[in-house]
Amino acid sequence: MGKKKVWFITGASKGLGLSLVHQLLNAGQHVVATSRNISELKKAVNNDSGKFLPLAVNLADEQSVEDAIKATITKFEKIDVVINNAGYGIGGSIEELSDAETRNSFDVNVFGTLNVIRKASPYLRAQRAGHIINIASIAGIAGATGWAVYAAAKSAVIALSEVSAEDLKKFGIKVTVVAPGAFRTSFLTTDSLILATNPIAEYEEVRAIHSKYLKMDGQQIGDPEKAAAAMISLASMPNPPLHLLLGNDAFQRANNKVESLQKEFRDWKAITISTDFDEN
Ligand SMILES: NC(=O)c1ccc[n+]([C@@H]2O[C@H](COP(=O)([O-])OP(=O)(O)OC[C@H]3O[C@@H](n4cnc5c(N)ncnc54)[C@H](OP(=O)(O)O)[C@@H]3O)[C@@H](O)[C@H]2O)c1
Repeated sequence: MGKKKVWFITGASKGLGLSLVHQLLNAGQHVVATSRNISELKKAVNNDSGKFLPLAVNLADEQSVEDAIKATITKFEKIDVVINNAGYGIGGSIEELSDAETRNSFDVNVFGTLNVIRKASPYLRAQRAGHIINIASIAGIAGATGWAVYAAAKSAVIALSEVSAEDLKKFGIKVTVVAPGAFRTSFLTTDSLILATNPIAEYEEVRAIHSKYLKMDGQQIGDPEKAAAAMISLASMPNPPLHLLLGNDAFQRANNKVESLQKEFRDWKAITISTDFDEN
């Protein structure tokens, strides 16, 4: 893996975050990992070496995030790679999900990521180096029926990554947004996934798609250890991608989306270009 780096990873007590932490510690890297539940995190990681700093963080609370970034600098004096991994799926049509359910998901999936970038950026800028890796989802590129809020949140993560890559480039800071397909983590378990608490009977297709996803738990095509290894490899690339799809399913869905977008843009071109001032 090369030089020793300092990694800051959110949502690390299970799933992709935990796989990242294990692989990085095994490779002798310095790792700061956050969780809502520090005892779960410590138990899952089981490493009391000086190379590991577990932190209890509420990602929706800017002060909590700032404290975590400061603790990282105090212990390891720099941050090389930030991985905004914490996130969860939320299912339901828009009218079935309450304002609170919707905002909570944006708090973790979007505002948590923004808080970490906002608080880490001053250090990365001063270093004139760093890599921010944001975990979005294929849902943010090609959303599926029944997951509008999740698709919107992950789409926001993709958009904010694309623009911050431009904003941060001049400071030597790289940004990559990762869009995984289905991976065999706790993502589809009741521990992580939230479904609308007040479903409306008429949304039969939404219910059907949710039960299809729930049945996929434990059968997902994606191996989280391979996803973690792929994400880790990004940090030693001189020219890492801005977008990285993970999984065959993600590859198919993303390419189908690009093709259908291009077709729709072409089919409606006449109206699209009819709205400019006719100045000549
Ligand atoms: N697995 C997939 O199929 C898949 C597909 C596309 C994208 N993703 C994305 O990949 C990332 C990692 O997910 P995963 O598959 O590893 O799922 P996971 O096994 O459920 O782990 C998710 C992590 O995110 C944190 N998290 C979950 N719900 C949270 C909440 N309500 N508030 C704050 N933190 C919460 C948890 O951190 P703590 O419990 O430690 O606080 C947990 O360690 C997420 O951003 C997810 O959206 C996953």
